Amino acid sequence: MTVKVYVPCDAAALSMGADAVAKAIAVKGGDDVKVIRNGSRGMLWLEPMVEVETKRGRVAYGPVFVSDIDGLIDAGMLSGADHELGHGLTEDMPYLANQERLTFARVGIIDPLSLSDYEANGGLEGLKRSLKMTASEIVDEVFESGLRGRGGAGFPAGIKWRTALAQPEGQKYLCANADEGDSGTFADRMLMEGDPFCLIEGMIIGSLGIGADTGYIYIRSEYPHAIKTMRKAIEIWEGAGLSGHNEDGSPRFKLHVRIGAGAYICGEESSMLESLEGKRGEVKVKPPIPAISGLFGKPTIVNNVLTLGTVPIIMAKGPRAYADYGQGRSKGTQPYQLAGDIARGGLVEKAFGVTLGQLVNDFGGGTRSGRPIKAIQTGGPLGGYVTPDAFDVAMSYEGMAEAGSMIGHGGLVVYNDTTKMMDMARYAMEFCEIESCGKCTPCRIGAVRGKETLDKIAAGEEVEKNLEVLEDLCDLMESASLCAMGGLTPLPVKTAIQHFPEEFMGRKEAAE
Ligand SMILES: Cc1cc2nc3c(=O)[nH]c(=O)nc-3n(C[C@H](O)[C@H](O)[C@H](O)COP(=O)(O)O)c2cc1C
Ligand code: SF4
Repeated sequence: MTVKVYVPCDAAALSMGADAVAKAIAVKGGDDVKVIRNGSRGMLWLEPMVEVETKRGRVAYGPVFVSDIDGLIDAGMLSGADHELGHGLTEDMPYLANQERLTFARVGIIDPLSLSDYEANGGLEGLKRSLKMTASEIVDEVFESGLRGRGGAGFPAGIKWRTALAQPEGQKYLCANADEGDSGTFADRMLMEGDPFCLIEGMIIGSLGIGADTGYIYIRSEYPHAIKTMRKAIEIWEGAGLSGHNEDGSPRFKLHVRIGAGAYICGEESSMLESLEGKRGEVKVKPPIPAISGLFGKPTIVNNVLTLGTVPIIMAKGPRAYADYGQGRSKGTQPYQLAGDIARGGLVEKAFGVTLGQLVNDFGGGTRSGRPIKAIQTGGPLGGYVTPDAFDVAMSYEGMAEAGSMIGHGGLVVYNDTTKMMDMARYAMEFCEIESCGKCTPCRIGAVRGKETLDKIAAGEEVEKNLEVLEDLCDLMESASLCAMGGLTPLPVKTAIQHFPEEFMGRKEAAE
């Protein structure tokens, strides 16, 4: 009997040699083996993680390199035998078993480009239900689910959709933001590479909800595998007639993939829309908001990949079922991405309310280096630093705000005790200097002055006075920047100083 062996085609696994591993298994296994390329289960420290289908379920081995294949197969891997690289049944591995996977329910389980796999694992259920509903019923359910934007700001998706629906009928657009520029984040990529139909289904449901006939997925150029997978998935989906047909046979909802050119600011929605129009990515003044006047001046919804990828399960199970997860005004689940100096980096989807400590220690296993944790930056490069004192904080939009940071796109980057917070603060200003679109003065000039001021502090030059200048500058950037790029850059700077004042004040003594 042919044994099914799963080897991920996710970029993280590919970077560790998954293609060569898949090939070696096919050669050594011969006719006894059928190699299937799946998405990643999200346990990135085990990539390439190979799974073998057995009567008991899938058995995991990893990390598996080409040099391990002969030994593994000789030791009985194809029948799920124990091995030093073995981890038992995949579903029983604590990292996975302790998650609540809704958005990522299928990732790693299915062949990403198999529509039959997709449907056999709950795909299309949400769309089928939505097709029986009116546009406002769809939008109401998204609103009731409490789903908030997963791109960073956490704005309620239902309210945004309502605004677009309320605009007069005519040309409207729905755009998926797959620019994913936050440090330490990779969930959009993993979803697009591991379950692309899920994003497409979410976008089709969205198009029914707001009355759009054209959609764009804006993917950063650094994601070539996601771009390829999404393009192929759209071809398969449209070929199967799942987007509906116009009278001339063209798809009722036409979906395009567009490639960004590597600017962090092109993740900001108005910049992204400028870029989609073929212009330089520059932030636009609001109002009008894109839901009223966006792409080519038409009502446009911009949502993050995770937001749209969560819509199918909400429509399949109903909004209450989704809202039962989470706490307070943070409903549902959040895919967290553990990165930096962490033993078990990867993707953890949990209901809001899991504590920071559970994520970093129970799932992440502490630092990879074995050194003590000094700080964790949550919410990307514009997020604040928190310390292990915040390990009991429940991860929610409100909880993280109280702890002085934010959830953002769910990225957590762990730093050990060798990290110099002065360097991190300087890096925040430098990042803003490089990535600023340049439209407004507080950000364009403020970031340069911020970096220079930190250099003076580092050199022990009039430390107290320059710290005051820095604080003043941060306040100005926060209150007068046009968008969150300049408005939030002070957060990592201020939290670095707040938690580690001695590293900044200490420069004074060093210089004296
Ligand atoms: C500097 C900057 C960069 C951003 N980068 C991204 C990004 O890479 N991906 C994303 O989805 N949202 C990003 N955002 C947020 C978007 O402007 C927008 O709020 C989001 O795409 C809306 O989708 P959501 O409501 O589903 O989160 C960024 C915002 C700013 C200010
Ligand atoms: S804050 Fe920075 S990135 Fe945002 S509009 Fe102003 S210059 Fe551009």
